[in-house]
Amino acid sequence: MTNYLITGSNRGIGLEYCRQLKKRGHDVIATCRDSSPELDQLGVRVESGVDITSGASVVKLKEKLEGKCIDVLIQNAGIAEFNSLSNLDPESVIRQFEVNALSPLCLTHAFLGNMRMGSKVALMTSRMGSIEDNASGGSYGYRMSKVALCMVGKSLSIDLKSRGIAVAILHPGLVSTRMTGFTPNGITPEQSVNGLLSRIDLLTLENSGTFWHSNGEILPW
Ligand SMILES: NC(=O)c1ccc[n+]([C@@H]2O[C@H](COP(=O)([O-])OP(=O)(O)OC[C@H]3O[C@@H](n4cnc5c(N)ncnc54)[C@H](OP(=O)(O)O)[C@@H]3O)[C@@H](O)[C@H]2O)c1
Repeated sequence: MTNYLITGSNRGIGLEYCRQLKKRGHDVIATCRDSSPELDQLGVRVESGVDITSGASVVKLKEKLEGKCIDVLIQNAGIAEFNSLSNLDPESVIRQFEVNALSPLCLTHAFLGNMRMGSKVALMTSRMGSIEDNASGGSYGYRMSKVALCMVGKSLSIDLKSRGIAVAILHPGLVSTRMTGFTPNGITPEQSVNGLLSRIDLLTLENSGTFWHSNGEILPW
């Protein structure tokens, strides 16, 4: 049995990760700020009260997981506040940077002691964090935060190699969740997580630090 810890598990892609991993028979620690009826009914271990930007709540979780091995740490929690140039809100940019980039780095650091040779870290970034792929501009805070998260992933892949920990930098596709206003143009969370779990399954120290679409395509920086 493999142990997975997932952030932002109460809805959307995080909830679907929990659902599919539970179905596969894995040990799931679902963290969230507040649980949901959908998460509660999965029968996985739920740790609520975990705001990834709060050092105190991360320390509390760390204490609860003392001695517990984490084989796969899935950093899924994120926010999107679409700031345009005409509607620039520096506080929103900083907020997105804190949630989407800085907190996943700090969380990885906090749980390094729970990981061992062969453990994996999966960072949920976005294609909107690709500079080369940016053909539409805008979304300053979100794009900046996800570029930064890609950089976090690349550096972690180098720094954690000697510990035997591999890092995946993942784009889920355009997914119909609350974040995207449940767009009818998106794939379902189920389709997305199917692909994402394939990427995580195939993650090794050799391909660590790659930026992947859930469909297996390697994305440009
Ligand atoms: N959907 C897409 O098309 C798409 C595309 C590219 C990348 N992504 C990325 O995929 C990830 C999941 O997205 P989603 O579509 O499932 O979004 P979502 O439905 O909006 O869910 C976001 C999750 O993040 C949690 N979260 C936000 N801030 C948090 C914090 N400070 N501490 C702990 N949890 C926090 C939310 O919890 P609350 O319920 O407490 O707010 C929620 O569980 C995100 O990182 C997102 O950027 C999504």
